[in-house]
Amino acid sequence: MPFSTITGVRGIIAYRLPSLPEAAEFDPFDVPYQLDPAEALRWFREQEPVFYSPKLDYWVVSRYEDVKAVFRDNVTFSPSIALEKLTPAPPEATKILEGYGFAMRRTMVNEDEPDHMERRRLLMDAFLPENLEKHEAWVRELVRDYMDRFIDKGRADLVGEMFREIPMTVALRFLGVPNEDAKELRKFSVAHTLNTWGRPSPEQQLQIAEDVGQFWKTAQTILDRMCADPSGEGWMYDSIRMHNRHPDIVPESYLRSMMMAILVAAHETTAFATTNAFRTLLSNRKSWNDICENPALIPSAIEECLRAAGSVVAWRRIATEDTLVGGKKIPKGGKLLIVQASANRDPRHFENPDEFDIYRHNSAEHFTFGYGAHQCMGKNIARMEMRIILDEFVRRLPHIDLVEDQSFEYLPNTSFRGPTSLWVEWEPAQNPERRHHAVLENPTLFSYWRTYQGGYRASGRGCRGET
Ligand code: HEM
Repeated sequence: MPFSTITGVRGIIAYRLPSLPEAAEFDPFDVPYQLDPAEALRWFREQEPVFYSPKLDYWVVSRYEDVKAVFRDNVTFSPSIALEKLTPAPPEATKILEGYGFAMRRTMVNEDEPDHMERRRLLMDAFLPENLEKHEAWVRELVRDYMDRFIDKGRADLVGEMFREIPMTVALRFLGVPNEDAKELRKFSVAHTLNTWGRPSPEQQLQIAEDVGQFWKTAQTILDRMCADPSGEGWMYDSIRMHNRHPDIVPESYLRSMMMAILVAAHETTAFATTNAFRTLLSNRKSWNDICENPALIPSAIEECLRAAGSVVAWRRIATEDTLVGGKKIPKGGKLLIVQASANRDPRHFENPDEFDIYRHNSAEHFTFGYGAHQCMGKNIARMEMRIILDEFVRRLPHIDLVEDQSFEYLPNTSFRGPTSLWVEWEPAQNPERRHHAVLENPTLFSYWRTYQGGYRASGRGCRGET
């Protein structure tokens, strides 16, 4: 049996661990995990639910209850490594970043207690559902505007033409970033995923360092302008004002780092989640037809999509003391990869977990947004965006289909998951709003239409411009 050695953070204790051949071979950058992390961990979920992966130098946690236990205890399992680079940067890349004055410090997601909770409490208000309502109308307008651009084309890549754009625009506006600055920031956010969770080659590391450096510099320039007049509206302005009142709880290093980190938190997570949801729903036509028929099902369909095909598939923690997870000894300093995608398909918690079922009673118990003290602050923003997008599609393009035989590509990384394109097609002549116009111009059909329209309106699903 092969043996692997890991060393505690203090460098004093060395653990020699017998590792199973399956564990020794596990590599999250291999095709199986990249294609379907929950499937790649199926054997482990049953046979070796917590195991040490020598290739990654992490303990991998795969069952629902164990993932929950780790998320729940953020003191024994510190989130401080959540944004640590999985593949260390070569000295040349570090130099490039230094040249840009890059000084990423702890933000929220990787902050320990008690600082984390004090800060979270001060900055939570804008994320509460009752305070998000005011954003619904403009998000819907934005979604409609993007759809208008391709609705008559009959074919579109929903990622490139819409899903990658909307979460960024929503995040920037939520933060209060002025439009002219937003254009600059859009260019760089994607570099961060590969930088943090990927395994870039040494050459890629240099390019990524350039992009991340520019992202950082641009974010700082914008932040400086916002700090000079902090009277604006938006969460970043709220944070600046809180910094002015409580600099010990919301320090300047937090503001500087958050200006960049929040865009990463909000952008690809939501873009991928929306893409995965559309792919899953359109591949399960009965479910798609059901939400077209009854849009009230959309919120539960979204939770089932987040469970079955979430966009954040694994997160990280580090043990602050010798401890146990699922009965397995984890040494102080042991790093953990907690695989939410695997937990979300654990049959001990979800009945027939491989079945996609929008009527499932406990879909919302998924871990795609994390769990416990650090659970995603933006979860209701993401849900709102996904709900509005789906709502507009089932009304305006219920007849879309996935383009057959398209291939799906993923950015190689451990944690963020979604294809880089999603092609759909439809017959524009069948667009409901065109059919309605045709009917309006035909007096014989008009009376039928009025009956239909009555029902349509009664269900609160009128066309654009209708009430
Ligand atoms: C589908 C979309 C999203 C997914 C899947 C997602 C997922 C996550 C996950 C897994 C965490 C870490 C949770 C933990 O450690 O327990 C997190 C934290 C966080 N997310 Fe999201 N996120 C999404 C969208 C957003 C959006 C739109 C925003 C903001 C506009 C946002 C802001 C944050 C913040 C501020 C944290 C840190 C919370 C804390 O540590 O207290 N996220 N998110």
